[in-house]
Amino acid sequence: MDFSELLVKRRSIRNFEDKPVPLEVIQDIINDSIKAPNAGNMQLWRFVIVNDKEWMKKISDACKQSILKGIEDNPDSGFKIYETQMKNPDFNVFYNAPALVYVVGSPKAPTLSVDTGLLAAYFMLSATTRGLGTVFVAQGAELKDPKMLETLGIPENSKIYAPIALGYPVSIPAMVARKEPKILKIVP
Ligand SMILES: Cc1cc2nc3c(=O)[nH]c(=O)nc-3n(C[C@H](O)[C@H](O)[C@H](O)COP(=O)(O)O)c2cc1C
Repeated sequence: MDFSELLVKRRSIRNFEDKPVPLEVIQDIINDSIKAPNAGNMQLWRFVIVNDKEWMKKISDACKQSILKGIEDNPDSGFKIYETQMKNPDFNVFYNAPALVYVVGSPKAPTLSVDTGLLAAYFMLSATTRGLGTVFVAQGAELKDPKMLETLGIPENSKIYAPIALGYPVSIPAMVARKEPKILKIVP
C-alpha cells in the first residue's frame, strides 16, 4: 500500500468483526507509534491496552454514566447532543471493537496533547497497514470512576489523551470529503 492509498484507507471505523486482535500486533503498532515526533523526545506518553470485549463494554458503560452525570450537572455541556445516544443501553462508545489503547500522561506536561495527537496519527496509520481499523473516541476519555481507573492501571492524576479503539473492520467506508484548505497567504 503506498502512502496516498494508506491515507485514504485510514478511516474511522465503527463496525468491527467479532475477532480478537493478537496482543503482539497491538504492541507492534505501539512500537510504530512511538516513532512520532514529540517535544524534546521526552516520550512522556504511557499506554494501557484493553484487549477484551467484556472489559470494553464495562468501560463504555462507565463513560456513558459519567457523560450523563456531566450533562445533568451542566446542561450546557458539549455532550448534551449525545444524551439520547448515552441513554441507549445498546450503544457502545467503542462500537463493540475488541480492543482499546489508552494513551495517557500527566496533564501538567505542556506539550503532551500535541505529542499524543501525533502519536495517535502514527498509531492509526500503522494499524491500517496491518489490516486493522481504528477510531479515536473522545467519549472514551470520560472515564472518571476511580476504582475502574485504578484497575486499568491508569496512574492517579493522569489524563487520558487518546482513546483509540481498534479491531478488524467489517468494511472501510469511503472517505468523507474535506473542504478546500484555506491558505491565508502565500509569501512572497
Ligand atoms: C479528537 C477526536 C475525537 C473524536 N471523537 C470521536 C468520538 O467520540 N466518537 C466517534 O465516533 N468518532 C470520534 N472521532 C472520529 C471523527 O469523527 C473522524 O475522525 C472524522 O469524522 C473524520 O472521519 P475519518 O476519520 O474517517 O477521516 C474523533 C476524532 C478525533 C480526532
